[in-house]
Amino acid sequence: MTRVSVVGGAGYVGGELVRLLLGHPGVDLGQVTSSSHRGRPLVSAHPNLRGFTELRFADPAQLEPCDAVISAGAGSAADPSVAQLRGLAPLVVDCGPRLRLRDSAVFRRWYRADPEPEGLLAEAVYGLPEINRTELRHATLASGVGCSAAATILALLPLARTGWALATPAFIEARFGSSAAGSRPGPGGHHPERSGAVRIFAPEGHRHQAEVGQALGWDPGMLSYSGVAVEMVRGISVSVRCFLQQAVTEGELWDAFRATYQAEPFVRIVAQRAGLHRYPDPRWLAGTNLCDVGFAVDPSGKRLTLMAALDNLGKGAAGNAIQTLNCMLGLEEGAGLGFMGLHPL
Ligand SMILES: NC(=O)c1ccc[n+]([C@@H]2O[C@H](COP(=O)([O-])OP(=O)(O)OC[C@H]3O[C@@H](n4cnc5c(N)ncnc54)[C@H](OP(=O)(O)O)[C@@H]3O)[C@@H](O)[C@H]2O)c1
Repeated sequence: MTRVSVVGGAGYVGGELVRLLLGHPGVDLGQVTSSSHRGRPLVSAHPNLRGFTELRFADPAQLEPCDAVISAGAGSAADPSVAQLRGLAPLVVDCGPRLRLRDSAVFRRWYRADPEPEGLLAEAVYGLPEINRTELRHATLASGVGCSAAATILALLPLARTGWALATPAFIEARFGSSAAGSRPGPGGHHPERSGAVRIFAPEGHRHQAEVGQALGWDPGMLSYSGVAVEMVRGISVSVRCFLQQAVTEGELWDAFRATYQAEPFVRIVAQRAGLHRYPDPRWLAGTNLCDVGFAVDPSGKRLTLMAALDNLGKGAAGNAIQTLNCMLGLEEGAGLGFMGLHPL
């Protein structure tokens, strides 16, 4: 068994990591750290875990050597640095943004913070197995993903692989559930402000744009990325409107999506002609590591709508980090990630 510790365990991603790791057949849950909750039982932050663990939160300064660490800290000064984590574990996955962008100037521009040393940025593999599975099998350091970035990349990947050229930038609208903002209270999460919200908070230039451009090898100028806060707790829903230089048929789109995803365990194509559930809907993905992707094309064949949905705490964070770690450990990629969702919810 592999001993895996979790840093930043009191947050929403940390809680989801613990829930999934407790059910993982190849993992022993090691320490779970929190500055704010140190010494308290895990259930004081995560009531869903009552009866499943007696563990208490450890002080981050007391983190001990283990086989792997998944970090879900919010990037506070109390969080161990990437270099410190590497000193304690041969395999490290960091769910935050600090290892996602390879170029330190790009990181500084989008996050207005100091980047990690160039050597670490160069070494870290972007932790989305659908695009970097081979590299992850040899990696000792991996990033996590931005929740809406992962959905957008998976919506656009079939297009990027076919090489069909865009006539204009792709217009991306990402709708965010409230848990994407983390568990620390803020003005946007205050109940009277958030309840019933359909609030545009980034009309253009959402920071996940940089991550999508990097992952697809596209000029970020060919992406126009907006963010909207909506009435969900878990979930990301993304639509991408694209204008192509050449016309394509619905059959060619099916071919492109099937070629990209037919062997992928966690990506499902949802593009039905009839019925209530024709396109991806994050509601049915809560608690899963699934990303549903879909598409529609207008009669001209040049105007496409690409869609994706996922659970921001699942395939958008904790589930994806465990899938990434499974690759790094050489385990079956879906180990511990078999939950298929609930309906109705
Ligand atoms: N939320 C998402 O959908 C999502 C998706 C993808 C990636 N991520 C990334 O994953 C990382 C963790 O995200 P998160 O959403 O789990 O953040 P979060 O809920 O804000 O938790 C992060 C850390 O903040 C501290 N914290 C949380 N609640 C607190 C409270 N009530 N009082 C004091 N401290 C508290 C905890 O650290 P201490 O107890 O040690 O202080 C916790 O580990 C971030 O880097 C984020 O960018 C998040």
